[in-house]
Amino acid sequence: MHRRLECIDAGSEYCPCYLAETKNCITCSQLQGKEFCDCNWTGTCILQELTMNRNKVKKQRDYYNGGIEEFDKIGQDSFLLKLKVTKTLARQLKEPGSYVFIRDNNLPQYFDTPMSVMKSDELNGTITIVFKAVGTKTNQLKNIKDNVLIKGPYWNGVLGLSYIKKVKGENCLVLARGISQAPSLLSLEKLVKNNNHVTLILDKGSVGEIFINDYIKSMSIEIFEEDLMSEKGSVLVKHILTNKNISLIFSAGSDLLHMKIIKLIDELDIKPYLAVTNNTEICCGEGICGGCTTRLKNEGRVKPCKTQIDARKIIERRVLID
Ligand code: FES
Repeated sequence: MHRRLECIDAGSEYCPCYLAETKNCITCSQLQGKEFCDCNWTGTCILQELTMNRNKVKKQRDYYNGGIEEFDKIGQDSFLLKLKVTKTLARQLKEPGSYVFIRDNNLPQYFDTPMSVMKSDELNGTITIVFKAVGTKTNQLKNIKDNVLIKGPYWNGVLGLSYIKKVKGENCLVLARGISQAPSLLSLEKLVKNNNHVTLILDKGSVGEIFINDYIKSMSIEIFEEDLMSEKGSVLVKHILTNKNISLIFSAGSDLLHMKIIKLIDELDIKPYLAVTNNTEICCGEGICGGCTTRLKNEGRVKPCKTQIDARKIIERRVLID
């Protein structure tokens, strides 16, 4: 079984974590109890970091009190929440895939809700998130009136992050449907910053609104609006993939949308890089609780809250097998 997995936190200020201390490290083979070194060297030796830290974890993520700067209803049961945070946290949340846990200050810890960061303003120390009230946690969030507890930064909200970060001067296609318009924004900013030619297809989805227009109007990108799950949507995606020599596709939406895109890629027999929003149900976000554990054919049990996994493998597992 091949288990060279990439932990999103490897080499960060939060590494080594409790997984390393308990010999369950995602990346380091020696910190999985093996006698040999077989990691994907990322510039940091986690074993050495742990040894230098007297075999203890580094300081883990804190909770912050975030004041509410803005709270607006933007669509069907969908809300925009702008929160005051430290400038340091805002800076740490500028990368694609960034997310935080938030909850009402008056509720217990198990109300911690993972939320993708849509916009991060490090100069003013604010982050903006958008959520749809669908379950117990998010319905509690929509009643929030006072301070919010925020825990972060977390970064594994997108699978295929290395592709988004490395493509430069290429043609890219971004698909953003429903509430997933929110996590598409940080990726769009990165792709545009790296001089890519970006085509964006927006889909209102179940939110019933396009809510990122104000944030993207200054970006030099080509924009379409279409129902991505419809036949017309498929025809549009196929047309773009056939005519634009697309190097990277970023699918921001449900696993069903991701699967649809994978099928279109296979049908056209092309091989663009694929990045997708990580739709895993995340509970602790630290690789500890096991709530997100998924079994893959070659990798065995993986924890998608912290692990960068081949998007195709996990989507096929969830849509075709589970
Ligand atoms: S969410 Fe707890 S282990 Fe992944």
